[in-house]
Amino acid sequence: MAANQTYLPGQFQRGQWLRVDAAKILKRFFFCERSLVKTQAGWLAGIADFEVKLALPYHFWQDALTAHALRERVFELKFPSRMLEIGDDQSLIDIFEESANAPSGEAFVLSLARVYKPALLAAYREYLSQADPLAEGPVLRALRVAVDEKAEQIAVLTQFANDMFKVSPEKRHEAEAWVSALGERLGQVGGLSIEPPQAVDNPVELPGRTEFQLAQVPARDSRFHLCRYYWPDVVDPDFPYGDGMQLQLRSAVSHFNEVWAVESGGAVLNAFAEELEWEFMYDAARWTYDEARHTRMGYDRLRSWGYEPQELPLGSHIYDSAHGQDPAVRLGMLHYFETKNIGKKTKRANAFGSYQDRVSQHDMDFDWADETIHAHYGKRWLDALRELYPERVPDMEVIRETCETLVAAQVDSATEAERDETRQIAQAMIDKARQVSRAVN
Ligand SMILES: [Fe+2]
Ligand SMILES: [Fe+2]
Repeated sequence: MAANQTYLPGQFQRGQWLRVDAAKILKRFFFCERSLVKTQAGWLAGIADFEVKLALPYHFWQDALTAHALRERVFELKFPSRMLEIGDDQSLIDIFEESANAPSGEAFVLSLARVYKPALLAAYREYLSQADPLAEGPVLRALRVAVDEKAEQIAVLTQFANDMFKVSPEKRHEAEAWVSALGERLGQVGGLSIEPPQAVDNPVELPGRTEFQLAQVPARDSRFHLCRYYWPDVVDPDFPYGDGMQLQLRSAVSHFNEVWAVESGGAVLNAFAEELEWEFMYDAARWTYDEARHTRMGYDRLRSWGYEPQELPLGSHIYDSAHGQDPAVRLGMLHYFETKNIGKKTKRANAFGSYQDRVSQHDMDFDWADETIHAHYGKRWLDALRELYPERVPDMEVIRETCETLVAAQVDSATEAERDETRQIAQAMIDKARQVSRAVN
């Protein structure tokens, strides 16, 4: 009977993937993005260049949004299962994980520009060209956005790599060798594509490979005035926080100095990616990106008032105070010191409004909204960590005391020369501000 049956044809391109086929490919993309979110975050403290340090959080926030859309779509396609396993993609994901072990920050940026982001861009283009828009519409929009973002990221990262090699030409040879070996290794598994990767018996050596470690001493851009304490009131209780013009300056310098929060956000994202899993990485990516925006707000205001980079103090004492500590302490620092002044922000925004300093008011106003989100992140994830490790992570009050004590120890270790240095930088900024405001008024 069946042999004589005739049917309408259905071998059309549109039907090539069933739910499970699409889910397997999207899951592969998710794990690649996830690896890079984690390694980009981990490298922030180890990269000196200010522009790169602030651009990477923007990039991995975008990557996290793409990853999130991919992950949600995989769950929809595999309902009711919410299992995500690397499985057959292990040989490929191992290569993405290797990005962490770059021999230098320059090599890391070059690998993103030349190997990893282009691989994702090509894979997304391939997927978009083959996927059925009727079945897959909900995720295709995210992939189209990702294609635009990846293309832009590659252009920016390529420029960054060139800029970094101009400053440190001696790093180029090692970086090129490592990156080209990564490219070969990616080729060995068949690249990142809609096809599953192949297992490889003899992966090529990665010359210069250096096991990742968080930079406990942050790399900072030497164009700025690098110091431990960025304003005299940190180490001198008699120096006023100030109002009027001094408050305008102090607030911009504080914003600019949120570099420590950028580095700490990246450090905790990297440290707890496995234990706290994706939801945490997703929040931490946004958190770190926000801190990068706050840093740039301060920098932008200071530049608008005519300050040159070398006139700007960039301090390290808060990041330094968690040197060698459990990463939970860095999470505590980020939560506690960034939200401590939240109550003062609206008052300060109003003060700036009364000075007709609209841009400081605007920055403080938006900063307030971000910090409100961060207060929630901090509580959520410190609670989650305490639940996982009750022995290791104390309650909020004890974390707060630990953070206070560590920072106080950093402050107490200030030498007279450092106090003088901080006062001098601040005084020079105040003098210049007087000139600028006289010229305007
Ligand atoms: Fe902030
Ligand atoms: Fe914050």
